[in-house]
Amino acid sequence: MNDKSKDETSRARRPETTIVTGGRDPMSYHGFVNPPVYHASTVLYPNAEDFLAHRARYQYGRRGTPTTEALELALQELEGPQCAGVALLPSGLAAISTAFLAVVHAGDHVLITDSAYGPTRIFCDQVLARLGVTVTYYDPLIGAAIAELIRPNTRVVYLESPGSLSFEMQDTAAIAKAAHDKAAHDKGALVLMDNTWATPLYFRPLEHGVDMAIQAGTKYIGGHSDLMLGTVSANAATLARLKSTVRHTGQCEGPDDVYLGLRGLRTLAIRLERHQQSGLAIARWLERRPEVLRLLHPALPSHPGHAIWKRDFSGASGLFSMVLKPVPQKAYYAFLDTLELFGIGASWGGYESLAIPFDCAPLRTATRWQPGGPTVRFHIGLEAVDDLIADLERGFAALAAAART
Ligand SMILES: Cc1ncc(COP(=O)(O)O)c(C=O)c1O
Repeated sequence: MNDKSKDETSRARRPETTIVTGGRDPMSYHGFVNPPVYHASTVLYPNAEDFLAHRARYQYGRRGTPTTEALELALQELEGPQCAGVALLPSGLAAISTAFLAVVHAGDHVLITDSAYGPTRIFCDQVLARLGVTVTYYDPLIGAAIAELIRPNTRVVYLESPGSLSFEMQDTAAIAKAAHDKAAHDKGALVLMDNTWATPLYFRPLEHGVDMAIQAGTKYIGGHSDLMLGTVSANAATLARLKSTVRHTGQCEGPDDVYLGLRGLRTLAIRLERHQQSGLAIARWLERRPEVLRLLHPALPSHPGHAIWKRDFSGASGLFSMVLKPVPQKAYYAFLDTLELFGIGASWGGYESLAIPFDCAPLRTATRWQPGGPTVRFHIGLEAVDDLIADLERGFAALAAAART
């Protein structure tokens, strides 16, 4: 098969197939299914002339190995034909900061969704601001009206959809169109998006006008709560800037973590499907509980962003939030502390369930966070749904008991 027809065949394949085939080349590794894990710094050259001319397929461990290339290529295929290349970074936050640093200049302005992950805000407020970049937060539900906030020097419009605590769904295409139409330095602002919740299996940002799509691979790509990984998928307009920034800031991901990312990716479709099914089953069960005010889950018809989710996304992962009817703090904590199958801890996307208390109010500057009661974010893992529900029932019993005392 020639390269062109090979390309056409892989383009026609479904994403579930691409995560299995993407970036693999067993015959280059004696037929072994997976690539070897190259632990590498020095790469030897055959002679002085080649060394001075940098004539080598791989030049230095930091600059990439067959292992890093395999994961980059697999992710690139998964993002679809708009994706020109992928960079791997040592964490999701490093991927976010590197994507910004690849495109902003002193004197620029950036627009950040008010629903952004907290450390993203801190990076913008502290690091970007110190570099002379002005930061404005906007209402995640703004849609095409973002055009009114775009200034002549707006370089980036940043989205996180859904917000990973509050779950607002953003109209990505409308925001991207406004950003590209309204010229920043005559070239249009660039659109960056944190797509960790959906992964490119359930939403391909580059097909909706996003220039760089970011994932905390720490979550679903890894899938086992045992690695830190960030990825940035760039279109043709941004790839060169991304790659040179990664290179000149000296960032690289360790070989074992790259391998864990690659290994996790191969089972992403089947894991996400289960996270989705169990997450929805539990969200529907919670929605009927008398203690619950409302669920923040975009795949539920009751969610205000459901129409956008249905229009743009092909699935939902296992992360969502719940608003309880007002109860004393000790009852709220008793609910969480009684759960045995739900751990209390940061991050998500692993095989295990989590439930954490949170409050977005201190983070917000463009909108007010007034959910109407205490809030819990759940990550639904791969345990049996019945066992998780039995655990939640115990939690609600403890909540009721604490509320009475
Ligand atoms: C939505 C989102 N983006 C980015 C990150 C950052 O990823 P990492 O922890 O790998 O730096 C997180 C981590 O919780 C997250 O929830």
